[in-house]
Amino acid sequence: MKIAVIGCGYLGAVHAAAMASLGYETIGVDVDEAKIERLRRGEPPFFEPGLPELLRAGVDAGTLRFTTDVAEAAGSDVVFVAVGTPQRAGSDAADLTYVDAAVESLLPHLAAGTLVAGKSTVPVGTAQRLADLIAPTGATLAWNPEFLREGFAVEDTLAPDRLVYGVADGDDAAVAALDAVYARILERGTDRLVVNYATAELVKVSANAFLATKISFINAMAELSESVGADVTQLADAIGLDARIGRRFLNAGLGFGGGCLPKDIRAFQARADELGHGETLGFLREVDRINLRRRDRMVALIERELERVGGDRVAMLGLAFKPNSDDVRDSPALDVSRRLQEGGRVVRAYDPEARETALRVVPGLEIVTSVADAVCGADVLALGTEWQEFRDLDPAALAGITDARVVVDGRNALDAAAWSAAGFRVIGL
Ligand code: UGA
Repeated sequence: MKIAVIGCGYLGAVHAAAMASLGYETIGVDVDEAKIERLRRGEPPFFEPGLPELLRAGVDAGTLRFTTDVAEAAGSDVVFVAVGTPQRAGSDAADLTYVDAAVESLLPHLAAGTLVAGKSTVPVGTAQRLADLIAPTGATLAWNPEFLREGFAVEDTLAPDRLVYGVADGDDAAVAALDAVYARILERGTDRLVVNYATAELVKVSANAFLATKISFINAMAELSESVGADVTQLADAIGLDARIGRRFLNAGLGFGGGCLPKDIRAFQARADELGHGETLGFLREVDRINLRRRDRMVALIERELERVGGDRVAMLGLAFKPNSDDVRDSPALDVSRRLQEGGRVVRAYDPEARETALRVVPGLEIVTSVADAVCGADVLALGTEWQEFRDLDPAALAGITDARVVVDGRNALDAAAWSAAGFRVIGL
């Protein structure tokens, strides 16, 4: 079986490497020459645990190749479309430029028997439009959304919770082609749901909307808890023990960021507006507002503590939107750092992986290469991303190298008792 993957970003690069690891001759296609060059050498263009090994194995075995020439996708049995759908500039809606361009560029290379399988997150209605576009070539379309999490992308791709195939009514050939691609994953008893296009598109965005809602729900409880003296972490533990609620995704703190949840809930709302169902998804605007208020709160708490100690130097631990990633797209930690800096504060940040990516977004930010460098000379410490390295810090040792005696824990991730015992005042979010 021959596989092509169009788009080699977080989603496509992992998918291509995963396809090659399943034994298929795979070609990854992207318009970005520099990215393709790196991938050809077996180097991922971003940090993702497990991906370097998987890429190198495919490249060394000769089963995984990369190109900027979409014509090389010709003759593939399945062509996955995994390009980005960012938020459109000046709007909440999804920007479909890359999806449309990818499918347009594929048209001359498609033939009867080829299955185009969309993986990108798209507004409901897109798959049907693209199916109509490719129909004259004789190729068919399936929508096969991806649910991977950054930081666990390899694991989520090769051992997903479920596979969802959105296919045209009665398109058994599309189902058979996807079953063949995923045979080794299905063998393990993975759930596989065959649905129509609209359902497949909605499964993806509603899953992300639900996760975002869960986070904002607990963050709303955090706001209330703070004013009445309750402990939101204990509250989450207690309600999470109800199996109908579940403890996962109930971590209160700085809220969600990244390239998916924030833009997906906005695009979902925008699509609902277009469809005349704006009110139905109106609550997602509130989910977004609660989420953004967390960043205001973190900035306000740090400012308050700086005033209290009469200082202006902040050590920010973490810049990535979440641990085990170098992604800073819509990162709460980076946003807080930028706002403090714009407010005239001196921010020294450290992140185990997101240095380069953060500097591209906030060029003037001072980013040092160790926790010690960040905290030395700081007046207030702040935790923006809960990397294990920060959870494992020895507060007693840190107390010896910084004069700061307060830490604002934006992820409620530090061992408050240990930090207090070492002389720090711990302010959770
Ligand atoms: C998210 C979904 O979890 C994936 O299932 C989905 O496939 C992906 O988007 C996508 O659409 O491509 P991801 O953006 O990698 O994955 O990250 P998450 O693990 O969902 O975390 C998102 C944000 O929520 C992070 O900023 C994280 O710090 C925050 N978060 C997460 C919380 O604030 N509290 C929590 O309890 C959990």
